[in-house]
Amino acid sequence: MTQDQLKQQAADAALEYVDSLLDEPAVIGVGTGSTADRFIDGLPKLRDKLRGCVASSERSAERLSRHGLPVLDLNDVESMPVYVDGADEIDSNLHMIKGGGGALTREKIVASVAERFVCIVDGSKVVDSLGAFPLPIEVIPMARAAVARRLAALGGRAALREGFVTDNGNQILDVRGLRIIDAQSFEQQVNNIPGVVTCGLFALAGAQLAMVATSKGVRRLQAPQWDVG
Ligand code: A5P
Repeated sequence: MTQDQLKQQAADAALEYVDSLLDEPAVIGVGTGSTADRFIDGLPKLRDKLRGCVASSERSAERLSRHGLPVLDLNDVESMPVYVDGADEIDSNLHMIKGGGGALTREKIVASVAERFVCIVDGSKVVDSLGAFPLPIEVIPMARAAVARRLAALGGRAALREGFVTDNGNQILDVRGLRIIDAQSFEQQVNNIPGVVTCGLFALAGAQLAMVATSKGVRRLQAPQWDVG
């Protein structure tokens, strides 16, 4: 099975899950990336159950609009039952590295308003420990070098993502060489560096559920201590 087919399977599993979750029309949060694109492309069949979607990027907002799905401003939405998005890495605690597509800030914001985060990945994204994928960090441009020095003190080699500007007008540092032992405290440490807008670690608030597509089918992983249906 190709990676594309696996992404499709993970997205289909999330569409089924969302369908079963929603009893009445609701607003849902929608992520960014090639796996999230497949989820978006399947959403028109749930149209009757959707009051609208909050997108985590301009790119996803455009794709939703092309399908004729209403895109809402997060400021007009108080809560959402679910946020669905991909990840670059995910571990058994359902902590993730995200931001390979550069949308990490809006992803973290939209996810924070949702009751549950459903992560959709192919099996290659599941890791024992996070950090082989370079950690994306969105920074205020004037703080780029200062943040990179602080990351060097933490053992990381930060490289500017050349020619890339986020939807928020900021820059991305991709950080290699990090040994992330305690993802939650590491995320806190990075959050505390002045000039950091968002750290691509999603550990303080990870996913509650993951749909992991493998050649043997889709495995559902649930976060430890999560008991909501
Ligand atoms: C976007 O900024 C990212 O957080 C994506 O969720 C992540 O990079 C996964 O993308 P793919 O589904 O394209 O692998």
